[in-house]
Amino acid sequence: MGAYVISVLNHKGGVGKTTVVLNIAAALASRGKRVLVIDLDKQANATDRLLGSFKRNRPHLYDLLLDEEGALDAGDGLYPARAPFSTIRVLAGDARLGAAERDLSPADRPDVWSALKDKVSPLADEFDFILIDNPPSLNVLTAAGLVLAAGNGGFLIPLDLGSDSTKGAKAVVEAVGKLHKARVLEECPDFLGLVFALYQKAKAKGTKQVEVNARIAFSGKLAPIHVPHSSYVTEAAAAGKTVIETHPKSPVAAAYIALAEILTGEKLAVEKQAKRAALKVSSTARRKLKAPLKVKRPLKTRTREVRA
Ligand SMILES: Nc1ncnc2c1ncn2[C@@H]1O[C@H](COP(=O)(O)OP(=O)(O)O)[C@@H](O)[C@H]1O
Ligand SMILES: [Mg+2]
Repeated sequence: MGAYVISVLNHKGGVGKTTVVLNIAAALASRGKRVLVIDLDKQANATDRLLGSFKRNRPHLYDLLLDEEGALDAGDGLYPARAPFSTIRVLAGDARLGAAERDLSPADRPDVWSALKDKVSPLADEFDFILIDNPPSLNVLTAAGLVLAAGNGGFLIPLDLGSDSTKGAKAVVEAVGKLHKARVLEECPDFLGLVFALYQKAKAKGTKQVEVNARIAFSGKLAPIHVPHSSYVTEAAAAGKTVIETHPKSPVAAAYIALAEILTGEKLAVEKQAKRAALKVSSTARRKLKAPLKVKRPLKTRTREVRA
């Protein structure tokens, strides 16, 4: 699968998940990357912000997941984002995702865990990145998103340094472990790291210990990123935009751009590692093929002298 998948998760709402997804998507797209955003949240904030005046009667992610036969091609449910993000496609969420827990019960649909992966994988080479926005809960949909990320990327946890948000992060890490144990996840997606998504320098002293504890408890692959709390973000949101568009030179936009660059670097590193591993396997196989066939010497059979 060509695309690098990043699921943005925290059990707690209001910690900046959607904002992180939107701004990384915007930063990546403005660098020419092809991005697919999958909106697993019934609130569909990412869908609304990326699609603008999107017609509600077209197929959404919910239709795609419910369609067991695969009659609906995943391409049908992918919509191009509004200008200027022509390289972003959206697998749109809507309120019906709230019913998904009931309608997509693993008891009736044992394939539900891999439903998202099965639908999206054939299109994955058309994208450089797949970003998944999650609801503030851990349900069958978030699990399906993690299945897509496993082996193809990982997950990021945004935090706001409140204690609920740290609990939410803990719930995510525990849920990933449980899904792995239950073999829903054949391999664990990489824990990429923490994003302090609403970082307030003025409050940083008071929340230092929370930050230190979070860094110790959740040490991911990448160093934590600090996105400053900024009124530009709320202003941009009110205008239905991202700070990458409205205030591209601001410190908050710079933080999202830095995060997008770090993730691009990580994608390259993972690809290089996979290439090296493939080369190693093939050179070992070649060496084995070239090596002369070793014929095992027959074991010397000890013969005991029988004395007359
Ligand atoms: N860096 C930031 N500075 C200021 N406000 C922010 C920042 N990041 C997010 N917000 C605001 O915080 C609120 C919650 O963010 P959101 O991304 O919707 O969180 P979640 O998806 O986790 O529920 C939104 O109103 C958003 O505009
Ligand atoms: Mg959200």
